[in-house]
Amino acid sequence: MLAQGDIEVAAPARSSLALEDVRAAYGPVRALDGVSLTVAEGEVVAVVGPSGCGKSTLLDLVCGLRAPDAGTVRADDAVLMPQRDGLLPWLSALDNAGLALRVAGVSREVARARAREHFAAFGLGGFEAARPAQLSGGMRQRIAFLRTLLAGRPVLCLDEPFGALDALTRAQMQDWLAATLEREPRTVLLVTHDVEEAVLLADRVVLLSPRPGRVVAELPVTAVRPRRRADPELVALREAAMHALKASGGAA
Ligand SMILES: Nc1ncnc2c1ncn2[C@@H]1O[C@H](COP(=O)(O)OP(=O)(O)OP(=O)(O)O)[C@@H](O)[C@H]1O
Ligand SMILES: [Mg+2]
Repeated sequence: MLAQGDIEVAAPARSSLALEDVRAAYGPVRALDGVSLTVAEGEVVAVVGPSGCGKSTLLDLVCGLRAPDAGTVRADDAVLMPQRDGLLPWLSALDNAGLALRVAGVSREVARARAREHFAAFGLGGFEAARPAQLSGGMRQRIAFLRTLLAGRPVLCLDEPFGALDALTRAQMQDWLAATLEREPRTVLLVTHDVEEAVLLADRVVLLSPRPGRVVAELPVTAVRPRRRADPELVALREAAMHALKASGGAA
């Protein structure tokens, strides 16, 4: 019980990453134009915008793969799950999953053991020795995600993780990712062009304009988890997001 005079105040969440008035260009092509964005520790933020509006560029900035042309980027150690799964075709599923550990200097045996611990929970049990070509698109994405998770960085940058999957597999993978993040909470910056995916998974949805990308709206998603796609709150948010995207000149 609180003593008289005590005030119960939630401690302000620490920000894991903060972009301030960031601009980025490739020669004459302006990709991002004055983007400011903060993600709190443990928060899942989705970034939605039309193709070419600078979403992948934004993740490159957060992961330190390129520097902004103007503005500032501050981010905790972040790992990128790239838009294409990036699995190495000659490595087994197990070795692909443990790749980030190997790059960090962990021995093959320990990397395999660490990856193996997660295979069953990731729906990959029995496929440890399979090569990427022998796996379905959904399985490949799960391995790519496991590799990202095992990198052990506090911030995960996911670039359209399910963009290449068919609608049914994508829906299954979205539910799977939501459950995985409940089990293993992380700070996540999730890039997608799928508004439904954004409101299903994120605590907050940031909408970008067509190129050069600018933030046109931010929508908090307060619906409790586990979430249902048909939840009227989520349906209304999808409508609001689509409306804001269309008004900015782009639709996801
Ligand atoms: N390496 C590069 N060299 C030149 N231009 C680039 C390069 N990478 C991106 N661009 C340009 O910058 C803009 C933003 O690209 P980016 O890949 O960040 O967009 P995106 O929002 O991720 O698009 P998509 O949804 O199609 O993945 C595009 O117009 C693209 O042509
Ligand atoms: Mg992209």
